Amino acid sequence: RVSMENGVFFDDFKLSKQDLDNVDRVFIVACGTAYHAGLMGKTLIERMAKIPVEVDIASEFRYRNPLVTEKSLVIIVSQSGETADTLAALRDCNRIGARTLAITNVVGSTISREANDVIYTMAGPEIAVASTKAYTTQVVVMHLLALYFGRIKGTLEETEEKEIVRALLILPDRIEKLLEEKENIEGIARLLAKEEDLFFLGRGMDYALALEGSLKLKEISYIHCEAYAGGELKHGTIALIEPGTKVIGLFTQGDLKDKMVSNMVEVKARGANIIGLGYHGEELDKSVFDYEIRIPQISDIVAPVLAVVALQLLAYYTAKEKGCDIDKPRNLAKSVTVE
Ligand code: AGP
Repeated sequence: RVSMENGVFFDDFKLSKQDLDNVDRVFIVACGTAYHAGLMGKTLIERMAKIPVEVDIASEFRYRNPLVTEKSLVIIVSQSGETADTLAALRDCNRIGARTLAITNVVGSTISREANDVIYTMAGPEIAVASTKAYTTQVVVMHLLALYFGRIKGTLEETEEKEIVRALLILPDRIEKLLEEKENIEGIARLLAKEEDLFFLGRGMDYALALEGSLKLKEISYIHCEAYAGGELKHGTIALIEPGTKVIGLFTQGDLKDKMVSNMVEVKARGANIIGLGYHGEELDKSVFDYEIRIPQISDIVAPVLAVVALQLLAYYTAKEKGCDIDKPRNLAKSVTVE
């Protein structure tokens, strides 16, 4: 679907340049992990295609009378293509006459059949309840869509387009390299397994990443986790930080790194133990960071797809250390087909 020579191409995609020129707002609607992929989509589509994007949790969207019109493009993200709230939101938008586009993993699912367009993530059947490869492929599809929109709207510099395409093409290799880090990640997981509360902090796309890392860990290890925008902690939650609290700080967005480091210093001053996730070759200050997870160098704009694999592994090893059922966590279903 992407090459240096031709950029992005989607087969059987009916959304034309004319259709897109008629769009004045994009809505991205989903639940859970798919919603977190939608948050990445907002950043990517606004940055590359300069179209305003709203991201909504489907169960909220369908009851808040959203300002969806015929000039809206509604992107519906769902691994299963059967989630009740997400399907209901799609049907509401179809009734309004908005343009609808589904990003799903299950061919022939209800959502894929009822949207005007569908892009399959082609992740293969995802058996475990916790969404992992579905999430990474959803985020990559968001990159492809943003590139596609940017190209046809003429809002994306060719040099930037090539940098992003090049980064997408090396992602598989970088993920392979990241897997060499798994012993280190397993060691940190053994520490986290003893905890009752964990905090994930990030800024920009690392905030959306923090939300996903937090959900992954809590849903399979049953440890209470919270994700916060780095700058938000001091507006209340920092009251929860005490000596020994574990905080995971995410550092894939270079332009926000200094701000994030100062947030880490704030929690360190209150006795927290800090785990920093950053790039190889960009050492994090040892006086602040007690532990480090390193990811191979890659362009910041695709880094969350790489970094989330480390957080998925962190969740996996933590749950394993606790003896939890990793594939079938308690109380959860793979697809929530009821409200
Ligand atoms: C993800 O790990 C969860 N299992 C859950 O949040 C899931 O992403 C959500 O229920 C949405 O499912 P869907 O993508 O099939 O619509």
